[in-house]
Amino acid sequence: MYDGGKIIIGLLIFLAFATFPFYSNIGKSVAKPEPSLDTPVIKALEKKECVESKDFMRRNHMQLLIEWRDSALRDAKRDYVNSKGKHFRISLQNTCMKCHSNKKKFCDECHGYAAVDPYCWDCHFVKEGGR
Ligand code: HEC
Ligand code: HEC
Ligand code: HEC
Repeated sequence: MYDGGKIIIGLLIFLAFATFPFYSNIGKSVAKPEPSLDTPVIKALEKKECVESKDFMRRNHMQLLIEWRDSALRDAKRDYVNSKGKHFRISLQNTCMKCHSNKKKFCDECHGYAAVDPYCWDCHFVKEGGR
């Protein structure tokens, strides 16, 4: 003989624990970030390429931005030549944010996940164009 009620209760308790990490994540922004490339400027690009390779950007965009700022402000140099010899105008607003005009769905998507909140936007203005 066995006690069906106890087995069911046992099962329910097991399920509650097994799925707890899942339920406890609902409503929090801990889902893997999926930065969106869906902007008018990126859509119109012939080659969907960033200033540098995706891998490089993912790992080093913070340093690159600091490099850009120093170059523009300390050396008054506003021309960046990338690893492939392509030229970009050094500007957070007019270069990065022109392609990545969807700051909320791009920059913020990752930063929310990584819990970083760059203070750049205190001064640098972003138009939320496109979507
Ligand atoms: C010419 C348009 C363009 C410009 C300018 C541009 N990006 Fe990008 N960016 C892209 C595209 C397209 C990708 C996706 C590249 C790929 O998938 O290979 C990308 C990828 C990235 C990624 C990696 C995203 C991921 O999913 O890992 C980061 C971070 C990034 N860009 C930040 C920047 C920053 C910061 C700047 C300015 C310094 C900048 N981008 C300038 C078009 C641009
Ligand atoms: C693929 C995910 C991803 C995308 C997309 C992304 N970032 Fe980041 N960003 C990060 C992570 C992760 C960090 C923190 C990394 C660290 O400190 O090493 C960071 C840090 C930064 C920092 C330094 C902040 C600090 O307080 O140290 C700046 C500035 C920055 N990002 C700018 C941008 C801008 C501008 C964009 C959009 C054009 C962007 N990022 C898009 C992941 C991303
Ligand atoms: C206290 C205000 C302030 C903050 C905060 C700030 N900046 Fe700037 N930044 C400026 C000013 C002013 C300039 C000069 C604008 C010019 O001469 O074109 C500038 C220029 C730059 C430039 C080069 C020129 C351009 O048009 O983009 C870059 C790149 C840059 N900042 C990146 C950053 C990044 C990345 C952060 C955050 C980590 C940041 N800034 C935070 C005020 C600020």
